[in-house]
Amino acid sequence: MDSATNLEQPTSAIPAPAAWEAGYGAIDPALEEVERRLRQQLQSRYEHLAPILRHGALLGGKRMRPALVLLAAEATGTIGEDHLTVATVLEMVHTATLVHDDVLDSAQFRRHVPTVNAKWDEQTSILLGDYLFAQSFYLAATLGDTRACRWIGEAARRVCEGELRQVHSRNVLDLDEAAYLSIVQGKTAELCSVACRLGAAYSGADQRTIDGLSHYGDALGIAFQIADDYLDLWGDSGQTGKTLGTDVYQGKMTLPLIRLLHSADQSLQAQVLEILRGPAEQRLERIMPLLAASDARQYTRQRAEQFVETALAAIAPLPASPAKQTLHKLARFAIERRF
Ligand code: IPE
Ligand code: IPE
Ligand code: MG
Ligand code: MG
Repeated sequence: MDSATNLEQPTSAIPAPAAWEAGYGAIDPALEEVERRLRQQLQSRYEHLAPILRHGALLGGKRMRPALVLLAAEATGTIGEDHLTVATVLEMVHTATLVHDDVLDSAQFRRHVPTVNAKWDEQTSILLGDYLFAQSFYLAATLGDTRACRWIGEAARRVCEGELRQVHSRNVLDLDEAAYLSIVQGKTAELCSVACRLGAAYSGADQRTIDGLSHYGDALGIAFQIADDYLDLWGDSGQTGKTLGTDVYQGKMTLPLIRLLHSADQSLQAQVLEILRGPAEQRLERIMPLLAASDARQYTRQRAEQFVETALAAIAPLPASPAKQTLHKLARFAIERRF
């Protein structure tokens, strides 16, 4: 992406917050244990591989998937050994998808540091992602039953389907909102949903409770990705710590653009299409004023808020608890966040 000089890059080396800045409340000590296990999982007997593993997986991130496992566990029972394993597995799977995603998106920054593909090369990213997938399923298989392996396997397959569908939708300018949401549901919501489902299942919750938390994770994941697509246009790379502006550059039709096109009159539509079909490195600068003059920004926020409401409704039947309160806060954070 050498020619994409207009793409925003992180302006300062702010260290990535290890978690959501307010902390995840009562589960923070358990999250620290997950952190310790991640370090343990990502050791190599070959010394020169250590920096790659450390760089790809250990340098920060919000740790939202492990937090979802642990919060769902606490909201329905008590955190146990299995939850810690599942939480570690899910962060490794998530990180594998990010390492591969940065190749797909030619992204240069992630978690406030250069991506693996930027610091090393694409071969290293492909193999590190595979390493993380392989090690995560090895770890999941140490659990006494096959639920985690089966459910995470299925969720990871759906994440890949989502990413594949997205790659094949590049420059498909008539992608509609339903198709966008269905891609987002696969690539992002599946992992959030399975995190909640496993947290509740390994607490011995009943099927209704498991389903409720699973729906919470699904809606939260969709809201989270809508917010991510919002931040790609209106965020600050110094805060997100990753390359922004890549969606328009890559011809990804995200919700703001879909809204702009669908709410435009014929002449504005023609103008938008001309920009999106034009040189990739000029698109962002040319499209921003048109987005600003439309209701795309407010509409995108509104849609994200609706998914947050759906998420909250799904866990309404849970008894009141500090963990439930944190699940509420986390849903709001998913769309109010700046990073
Ligand atoms: C990034 O996920 C990929 C998306 C689903 C938008 P996160 O924003 O949770 O990434 P980290 O783990 O905090 O770096
Ligand atoms: C999410 O999509 C990627 C995955 C679910 C793996 P994006 O491509 O928007 O994520 P970022 O913005 O690179 O983190
Ligand atoms: Mg990306
Ligand atoms: Mg993004």
